[in-house]
Amino acid sequence: MRKSVHIKSYGCQMNVYDASRMEDVLSPMGYDAADAMEGADLVILNTCHIREKAAEKVYSELGRLRREKAARKGTDRPMRIAVGGCVAQAEGEEILKRAPFVDLVFGPQTYHRLPLMLRQLESRGRAVVDTEFPADDKFDQLPPAGELDGASAFLTVQEGCDKFCTFCVVPYTRGAEFSRPVDPVLREARLLTGKGAREITLLGQNVNAYHGAHPEGGEWTLGRLIRALAEIDGLERIRYTTSYPAEVDEDLIAAHRDVPELMPFLHLPVQSGSDKVLKAMNRRHTAGGYKDVVARLRAAQPDLALSSDFIVGFPGETDRDFEDTMALVRDVGFVQAYSFKYSPRPGTPAADMGGQIPEDVKSARLHELQDELNRQQIAFNETCVGREMPVLFDRPGGREGQLVGRSPFMQAVHAELSAGYLGEIVNVMIDRAKPNSLSAVVSSKQEAVA
Ligand code: 5AD
Ligand code: SF4
Repeated sequence: MRKSVHIKSYGCQMNVYDASRMEDVLSPMGYDAADAMEGADLVILNTCHIREKAAEKVYSELGRLRREKAARKGTDRPMRIAVGGCVAQAEGEEILKRAPFVDLVFGPQTYHRLPLMLRQLESRGRAVVDTEFPADDKFDQLPPAGELDGASAFLTVQEGCDKFCTFCVVPYTRGAEFSRPVDPVLREARLLTGKGAREITLLGQNVNAYHGAHPEGGEWTLGRLIRALAEIDGLERIRYTTSYPAEVDEDLIAAHRDVPELMPFLHLPVQSGSDKVLKAMNRRHTAGGYKDVVARLRAAQPDLALSSDFIVGFPGETDRDFEDTMALVRDVGFVQAYSFKYSPRPGTPAADMGGQIPEDVKSARLHELQDELNRQQIAFNETCVGREMPVLFDRPGGREGQLVGRSPFMQAVHAELSAGYLGEIVNVMIDRAKPNSLSAVVSSKQEAVA
């Protein structure tokens, strides 16, 4: 009899990719993916450890699951609960102490062993914890990608990080920086395109550090990889995330100039505009260095729209430092951004630094920063009104007869279109801008084409 697995992912897009690969691993064991948590035979919380709230959400979700598991105990549909992802990696056995009803704990580097863990669970009858960093390449062990969820797919090409920004847990939870070799990446991209992907987003914690081995010797940069991917028939859009400013090289800049499939949108986290804070964060760029990289990218691709990450209230951040961040934001201009209050992560150097900033100061700075970022986002969305742009429509809208897609600049675009256009790139005319999305009309000529 087939069983069902529900995976709930928190945090970054890499977790979304990992979740789909977990489904691929579990399918041959008889598990089908279920949309709802209720009634699933196996529930996996694919967790994020980047900020405090993310981990707390996991524990409150576990509290809810505990009740359902208890209610199903002794029935013919018992429930298994697994915690994967970065909280699992960081906390390991601790999770079982705080939530003893959990059956499996595994890290981001061991999910290819889920079948083994499930068999161990059945034979031993007690919880299994696997948070090693195995020497074998996880990707070699995974089955080929299964069904796609829409026309836009993720593809992990690089994992881990060696940068050790002083606020960040990633180097501890995801491990050392690693690039997948070129061949399996190209193979996976062809497979995804064959299954209907029109857009692929290359993923890595530090994706522009990519240096994948090539079978003919040597290593390829991300720029070189993007050029090769652009040759794949049917693959019309390429994106990549997340990038590290100090590692943007000439190859990547040239790809933005030369490869039309590479979308003119880049998420390039800066974190702060103060050189003093950037140094304390162990970022290997200054504010000026960041602006220089942006200028070179914009010279190559004048349409480039930028997104970023910011942290306010890092230990030692003064009003003056914060003003430097505001100045950088005004200077560079972002079409979208994520901003956070600094959250001390146990075991990271910044958590033990002097000069921790009071919550109310962090909140006030975050508010001021987000006001400016929102203003910039709205201003950019408004400049799009009256422009024609190609939109990849990949999900149904809220209303019957409506589809939602992405502009080249990652904006959500709503249009009145029949479901037959799902997975299609359609040229539309933007007629209205909202703070978080655009709406568009389709000319009758376009309608006639499909
Ligand atoms: N506190 C607040 N924000 C953080 N980020 C990473 N670690 C922390 C932390 N300890 C943010 C950074 C990063 C994004 C993914 O999350 O801005 O780019
Ligand atoms: Fe974390 Fe810095 Fe690595 Fe990004 S570059 S994953 S912020 S340590």
